[in-house]
Amino acid sequence: MTAELSPIDKAKYAAARRSVDFVESGMKLGLGTGSTAAWMVRCLAERVKAEGLKVTCVATSKRTATLARDLGLSVVGMDDVKWLDLTIDGTDEFDPNLNLIKGGGAALLQEKIVATASDRMIVIADAAKEVAQLGAFPLPVEVIPFGWQTTKALIEETLYSLDVLNREVTLRLNRKRPLKTDEGHYILDLNLKRIGNPRQLALVLNQIPGVVENGLFIDICDVVVIGNGDGRVTVRDINSGRVEDAAVDMTLDANVFTDLGD
Ligand code: 5RP
Repeated sequence: MTAELSPIDKAKYAAARRSVDFVESGMKLGLGTGSTAAWMVRCLAERVKAEGLKVTCVATSKRTATLARDLGLSVVGMDDVKWLDLTIDGTDEFDPNLNLIKGGGAALLQEKIVATASDRMIVIADAAKEVAQLGAFPLPVEVIPFGWQTTKALIEETLYSLDVLNREVTLRLNRKRPLKTDEGHYILDLNLKRIGNPRQLALVLNQIPGVVENGLFIDICDVVVIGNGDGRVTVRDINSGRVEDAAVDMTLDANVFTDLGD
């Protein structure tokens, strides 16, 4: 059933499939955004259907909310629950401390609010997302449209005093116009190549007027589930130090694939 998927998609599916084993009936769940998170939503919907689990979900974007509702999951607003048991989300990069760069899908603001307000955050990723040091993936920063060029100039100036390798800042576009996030903000992508001190950078960026939030997730992620195209997964828990290897049966879950519709 997975034969038509690319190796990367198989890896994303394997990580997603394993991550939903952490879900228990009665949980309030944060649902991430992106292609890996979309696999997780499909796997979760399958478990809910097959086992009659009762879960309440908060989505980190409009597109995740639509997918989850279409698959029959109960989706409420963040203010309806205020706090969550578990959030499962993808990432653009993760380092050995499970610090992350997120926001490739422009949902970093809601993703950070939801993950921070969760007892536990599990990140699901294909093995290519693992890096020794963050920064090869451009760091997304969400900014207010008013005066965004001034905000960009302030960010560029600030970067000169920080330990980064490159200092190129670009406005993210969508069909030649500024991309607007679900909250109506813009995204600046910071092409830094290497981030020497992610904690410091995250704090400094958020001091700049016009910056709403940055895509560095520091000390937020508890567990990473790393998937491979052959179905092997590694689960790494930063708090306990435990590392577990397992294998996901890639021939099961036919419904997940027939639900795809895209
Ligand atoms: C969205 C995100 C995504 O989790 C991140 O971009 C990874 O996406 P994908 O799973 O499609 O590779 O942060 O804002």
